[in-house]
Amino acid sequence: MSSTPASHILDRVLVLEMVRVTEAAAIHAARLVGRGDEKAADAAAVEAMRAALNELYMDGTVVIGEGERDEAPMLYIGEKVGAAQGKGPKIDIALDPLEGTTITAKAGPNALAVLAIAEEGCLLNAPDVYMDKLAVGPGYPEGVIDLARSPAANVEAVAKAKGVRPDEIIVCVLDRPRHADLIAELRKIGCGIQLIPDGDVAGVIATTNEDTGIDIYMGSGGAPEGVLAAAALRCVGGQFKGRLLFRNEDEKARARKWGISDLNRIYDLQDLAKGDCIFAATGVTDGSLLAGVKHRKDGVMTTESVVMRASSRTVRWVKGEHRRER
Ligand code: FBP
Repeated sequence: MSSTPASHILDRVLVLEMVRVTEAAAIHAARLVGRGDEKAADAAAVEAMRAALNELYMDGTVVIGEGERDEAPMLYIGEKVGAAQGKGPKIDIALDPLEGTTITAKAGPNALAVLAIAEEGCLLNAPDVYMDKLAVGPGYPEGVIDLARSPAANVEAVAKAKGVRPDEIIVCVLDRPRHADLIAELRKIGCGIQLIPDGDVAGVIATTNEDTGIDIYMGSGGAPEGVLAAAALRCVGGQFKGRLLFRNEDEKARARKWGISDLNRIYDLQDLAKGDCIFAATGVTDGSLLAGVKHRKDGVMTTESVVMRASSRTVRWVKGEHRRER
């Protein structure tokens, strides 16, 4: 059991309602799997997620969304969602209606509709910049990973804690040219590297599931996705370290605008998602965490989702059969 106190504010929003929101986004995005159109798939997911959120009894605010107001027409940062503005529980929402737009367009694995909710002020308002990420699943001594150490030193520490050789460790890394040095360093110690084309929320969560074989997640990806992954790890256990990466002054200014003053800070799980929180995801395409949306010949759409809560560490796997147009 976790020692995180349950939030009465979150109690008022049914945990399972969150699944209806991610299901709606996944079902709409799934119609565009393999159609080569990232934007259309994302737009379908965004519209469906927004409509589903607006049916919930809450006074919600998007803190991680599709971008800033002038760049995203819907689910922008700061947008109010929910059917009880001014009277319902105040909830902050981090969302990614379609995590893996390119994967979806190419019908690749691991595209998800995801969201995390917490009480007001409990999720980091992460700017849309890169974040250096390092994660392991549950069961390791606290501090086994450390962003201040080299990738090789982290692999060695995890291997030692697991009781295996460093070359028996599998690290998941986004397949990007910017990771050439990281990959070269990992190759030197001989560990396995699972290169993923996209979707580092699923990559981080994969460390929590021994069936995936992935021991560590390393490398840079979106900071908003870092907060979502951290919320998931808060619910299932594991360790996560993140540091924002800035490519220019404009990105630094974005961070300051969201109240971040220490630009070199290394964030822990609790810094990214604190207090009680709920994380939900529905598979869009088949992946290591969840099966994707399927359209059966009897007209039924099937979905697979997971919803978890930090205070209770409850993890619910939800299989949906959807018989009518949503
Ligand atoms: P999108 O769904 O927004 O395309 O994000 C996919 C993703 O792979 C994330 O999982 C990851 O954090 C980010 O893109 C990495 O960014 P980049 O493609 O610039 O390396």
